[in-house]
Amino acid sequence: MLRSIIAGIGMYVPENIVTNNDLKKYMDTSDEWIQERTGIKERRFADRTNETTTTMGVEASKIAIKRAGITPQDIDFIIFATLSPDYYFPGCGVLLQRAMQMNCIGALDVRNQCSGFVYALSVADQFIKTGMYKNILVVGAEKHSFGLDFSTRGRNVSVIFGDGAGAVVLQPNEAVHDPSSNSESGIVSTHLHSDGANAEILAMYNPGTHANHWVKEKKLADFNEGEAGDMFMSHAMIDNAQNFPNMDGPAVFKVAVEKFPEVIIEALNANGFQTSDLKLLIPHQANLRISQFVQRKLRLRDDQVYSNIQKYGNTTAASIPIALCEAWEEGKIKEGDLICLAAFGSGFTWASALLRW
Ligand code: ACO
Repeated sequence: MLRSIIAGIGMYVPENIVTNNDLKKYMDTSDEWIQERTGIKERRFADRTNETTTTMGVEASKIAIKRAGITPQDIDFIIFATLSPDYYFPGCGVLLQRAMQMNCIGALDVRNQCSGFVYALSVADQFIKTGMYKNILVVGAEKHSFGLDFSTRGRNVSVIFGDGAGAVVLQPNEAVHDPSSNSESGIVSTHLHSDGANAEILAMYNPGTHANHWVKEKKLADFNEGEAGDMFMSHAMIDNAQNFPNMDGPAVFKVAVEKFPEVIIEALNANGFQTSDLKLLIPHQANLRISQFVQRKLRLRDDQVYSNIQKYGNTTAASIPIALCEAWEEGKIKEGDLICLAAFGSGFTWASALLRW
């Protein structure tokens, strides 16, 4: 069986830097509160009219494709991960296909929030391994700045998120002699999980088709009760800010610090590795406190865990490819290094990918 390699990687973040102090214009918050709880100093916000989730994905893809030494017309499949699509439907994959004048290839959208990129990479890996495709573009992109409550009411969520995009081109590693050997370059294994028991803990309920069905079942006091929820979209929904993401932060923290280490160890164990074999862990940039907790739990050194949430905030599906790209550009990833990507997020879903660079 073939093994997939990352043949090109790219990232794009908007020019507009928004500091914690800038957010004080809209809400009651402080630089101290945000840095202490999340580690975030600043984030990027897209140009309101000229940039979308897809256009940022296009910019990251152009770089990844160029670095892979191919053209957009060589791409034979697109997988686009986002929770902030340009349209409710169709997905961003087809918009990217159109914008980059690609052939009429398949385009798949992945809706796995913070785990979206690792899920997308895993799907791409299977297509490469079976020989179905030779150049798959995997994109993670978000324009969160358009969908957050920037009033004081939404501050526990809105201060965390930022905009950006990352992309990779996946190709078969034709040079692999022994695909079962974990010393050959490429994706060694991927591990995907979900547990919907607490789907509403980190969710955006509206607009949607739930018609309050899950409210009855979950009995969540603040979950979209009343007339607002039994329509796809309503004035009441907007008046009650039900069109914004909801998060029970402490509950997310509790599960995240359990599932991140679990899925990293799962990837290492599956291939006979130990934490000391890891050159770099690239966790989804959820919150610096979560990454630090994971680092301590796995007894990893500072140089084994990559963090750039300080500059970009949490960019959900884009955070791992942005971090991977930046780590590689900074020379922190070299040929032969063992890299672990790990994600946890809404759903809950969690996932890891072990790569030999
Ligand atoms: N600025 C100032 N005060 C704030 C802000 C803010 N931006 N947000 C909330 N507060 C206030 C609250 O109103 C509350 O005040 P009160 O005590 O007077 O009622 C107080 O701070 C504490 O609020 P909590 O929501 O309990 O805040 P907490 O200490 O839990 O910190 C945080 C919130 C940072 C989200 C934390 O719960 C956390 O780290 N959770 C992990 C979840 C996470 O990081 N999610 C990221 C996205 S999901 C993902 O990527 C997996």
